[in-house]
Amino acid sequence: MNNLIERIKHLKQRKNAIILAHSYQNIEIDLVADYVGDSLYLSQKAKETKAEIIVFAGVYFMAQTAKIISPEKKVLLPNINAGCLMADMINLRQIVDFKKEYPNLPVVCYINSTAEVKSECDICCTSSNAIDIVKSLNSPKVLFVPDANLGKHVESELKNVEVITYQGCCPVHDNITVENINNARKKYPNAKILIHPECRPEVSSLGDYIGSTSGIIDYVKNSKDTQFVIVTEKGVADRLKRDYPEKEFILISNNMLCESMKLTTLEEILYSLENEVNEITLDENIRQRSAKCIERMLKVSK
Ligand code: 13P
Ligand code: SF4
Repeated sequence: MNNLIERIKHLKQRKNAIILAHSYQNIEIDLVADYVGDSLYLSQKAKETKAEIIVFAGVYFMAQTAKIISPEKKVLLPNINAGCLMADMINLRQIVDFKKEYPNLPVVCYINSTAEVKSECDICCTSSNAIDIVKSLNSPKVLFVPDANLGKHVESELKNVEVITYQGCCPVHDNITVENINNARKKYPNAKILIHPECRPEVSSLGDYIGSTSGIIDYVKNSKDTQFVIVTEKGVADRLKRDYPEKEFILISNNMLCESMKLTTLEEILYSLENEVNEITLDENIRQRSAKCIERMLKVSK
């Protein structure tokens, strides 16, 4: 493995490339990554970087987002089959129909979506800034696609905004039930329960903290508590165990595994960087329209 890591690092330098990795990736990817974090942080890094090549260790919509906001850079997705089940739940025709059903309302688009869908929306959001983004619209009603769970979580936090949601979800997070959380509370009464807002709202509301992958990691960093139940994908629990060996982390279920996120390997990163394959390309009209949606978010979330 050391040889593989050295070759990737050498190529990064030679080609002026960086590697962005999501916190759900296989943990060894961190050994070559320049930045590891949640989708907001990684999109900010994609925008800021002076590198000529971005290798995205994540899923398709993340690499596509990097290309939308940094069209002059070459963006590579080492495993081109790494999709997102939620992003695939809405396409261009479906967003157009949804808007027709509820005309004249601002449309918020969760970043877990395709460029075509973003191109039809007013502003993008991630799990870490969704509440602030909806608030920034100053509208009593908004449309929210594709994650119904995140949209309803935002609605419950804002009280005076009606969030009309499209019926998409992340099957990995949506699987978690109230019973799962109640059982964890009974079994680990002293643990803090940290939940990603892609879980159902009735599940999220039972957490001691609700936040993005980076939000959950930061909560642990700033907490004096020593036991935590992690209610998001396994990659977050793996990184917390590595970084805080003196604390205890319990993953809510062994099914908290995003198969797409686990597809990328160090070998594929090396291959894509060496041969510059699996490049993300976009129709320029769609790119420009979806860029507006993302740029607007980045302005609110500086
Ligand atoms: P974050 O924005 O917290 O990184 O979440 C992305 C994601 O896909 C969660 O399932
Ligand atoms: Fe998509 Fe769910 Fe995987 Fe996140 S965990 S990338 S929302 S399928």
